[in-house]
Amino acid sequence: MSNLVEAPLLSAFDVRKNYETPAGTLEILRSIQLIVRKGEMVFITGKSGCGKSTLLHILGGLDRATDGKIFFEGKDMVEMSERELARLRSRQFGFVFQFYHLMPELTVYENVLLPTLIAEKANKPWVKEMLKRVRLWNRRTHFPSELSGGEQQRVAIARALVNHPAVVLCDEPTGNLDPETASQVTTLLNELNRQEGQAFLIVTHDEEMASRYDRSYRLQDGILISGPSKVPAPETILHNKPVL
Ligand SMILES: Nc1ncnc2c1ncn2[C@@H]1O[C@H](COP(=O)(O)OP(=O)(O)OP(=O)(O)O)[C@@H](O)[C@H]1O
Ligand SMILES: [Mg+2]
Repeated sequence: MSNLVEAPLLSAFDVRKNYETPAGTLEILRSIQLIVRKGEMVFITGKSGCGKSTLLHILGGLDRATDGKIFFEGKDMVEMSERELARLRSRQFGFVFQFYHLMPELTVYENVLLPTLIAEKANKPWVKEMLKRVRLWNRRTHFPSELSGGEQQRVAIARALVNHPAVVLCDEPTGNLDPETASQVTTLLNELNRQEGQAFLIVTHDEEMASRYDRSYRLQDGILISGPSKVPAPETILHNKPVL
């Protein structure tokens, strides 16, 4: 799905994130450079605690960077107010969280419908279509507690995709699943990427899975190191340009 001439959808330049703690400043992200284009599947791997969730939250506008620039379709997210950021999040970003984060008191159907109501674009036929694609339409009246981990993750994926977001940010979407269910979820993400043309930025521990797709990076010591990729990382191309 990669296309070198496609304009960047989401880009980060020199992004830093520090946490101030009683024991001193924790430098989690030191200098993040990343460009994600339309329809790409980009993977980020890295050791526990290296800052993967922190990075995903910052790129998705759920948290603020300490320094640096983040652009969505050329618009500077750092300059946006909380209100503008919330609007951008609900319309252009889909999130699949590390531990599903479904609403326990809502049914499967209601969990997927909710983001469409928040974004003021309720579309019940599309909610049905999404639940069919993740093969859970027959479980629509069930509550999250009645589903297995893999089923809950599929609901979370339907919920993340229901508003046709431009970018889907997935934090360890297969981290809590057995290998077979994990493989089904990965295949599903791949199918949805092909069908809908959305960009996916996926955090995973599975280096083998990451290496099978467009591009992968390892987050280490606060920077992204380009890993096995089918296409050159756009940041590398940018960095290799002669300085005028
Ligand atoms: N609010 C906070 N205050 C202080 N430190 C924090 C805060 N949030 C996260 N951290 C620290 O930042 C580091 C990165 O956390 P993060 O959750 O991003 O790691 P991760 O790479 O997603 O790990 P995992 O693979 O275990 O999910 C950790 O050392 C964590 O303890
Ligand atoms: Mg994490």
